[in-house]
Amino acid sequence: MTLIDGKKISDQIKAEIAAQVEQMLADGKKRPHLAAILVGHDGGSETYVAHKVKACEQCGFKSTLIRFEDNITEQTLLDQIAALNADPDIDGFIVQLPLPRHISEQKIIEAIDPAKDVDGFHPQNVGRMAIGLPCFLSATPAGIIELLARYNIDTRGKHCVVLGRSNIVGKPVATLMMQKAAPGNATVTVCHSATPNIAEITRQADIIIAALGQPGFVTADMVKDGAVIIDVGTTRVPDPTRKSGFRLRGDVDFDNVAPRCSYITPVPGGVGPMTIVSLMKNTLQAAQAKN
Ligand code: GUN
Repeated sequence: MTLIDGKKISDQIKAEIAAQVEQMLADGKKRPHLAAILVGHDGGSETYVAHKVKACEQCGFKSTLIRFEDNITEQTLLDQIAALNADPDIDGFIVQLPLPRHISEQKIIEAIDPAKDVDGFHPQNVGRMAIGLPCFLSATPAGIIELLARYNIDTRGKHCVVLGRSNIVGKPVATLMMQKAAPGNATVTVCHSATPNIAEITRQADIIIAALGQPGFVTADMVKDGAVIIDVGTTRVPDPTRKSGFRLRGDVDFDNVAPRCSYITPVPGGVGPMTIVSLMKNTLQAAQAKN
């Protein structure tokens, strides 16, 4: 069994990006600039955004964090997005999700200029991804594809079972895995809350991508020997032995599943760091497209 080290790969990619930024500056171009909007004080979102800001520093990017309380009106948020769309110094920006219930996430996503939508959530980017055109790929699916590529994992003709159908992970990763590309070219099955016989299907999988947010959902009896397991889950579970009072748990029962696999991602240190680095790659791409 090989442990897929997302932390190590993401450090390598950040170093590659930092070298490209140095070259851009040497060529007289401006430093890439990412802005992040954070609404409210959700613990998970605070952590993700802090990691994104730190990754910007490591890549040599400028970053701006814009914070609002969770009673902000939808219009104020839309006005802020319009200002970022119009700001020539901002290459790309993200609005951290989830948003408070009184704000329409879809309306917010559609207000972002697709050329600055480095999360790849705007329907224009999603649509372009679906038909294989150049676009900003959403960060988690892109990070998974990058891990498969860097570990030379063969996906062509393999049966890939995706667990979960979210707009952020399940749907786009299923689309990328079936794309005529490498990695890609897989036969893809998507399972979700209305699928009755999930274990029967996962037992046929060469590759399982688990993205349902249910800690320990994938157990050893659901996995065929030699399968590749990509665990996207990052649920906070109580852990009194930690100073924070919690730890992150994936969607896979790692201890029992790992011995059966050919490759597996740990949680934390697998897909998570790759998600952030994909955002950095998109920001670099946005800056290069403008310069
Ligand atoms: N919430 C969970 N994942 C993400 C992500 O990749 N981007 C944003 N903006 N919000 C998220």
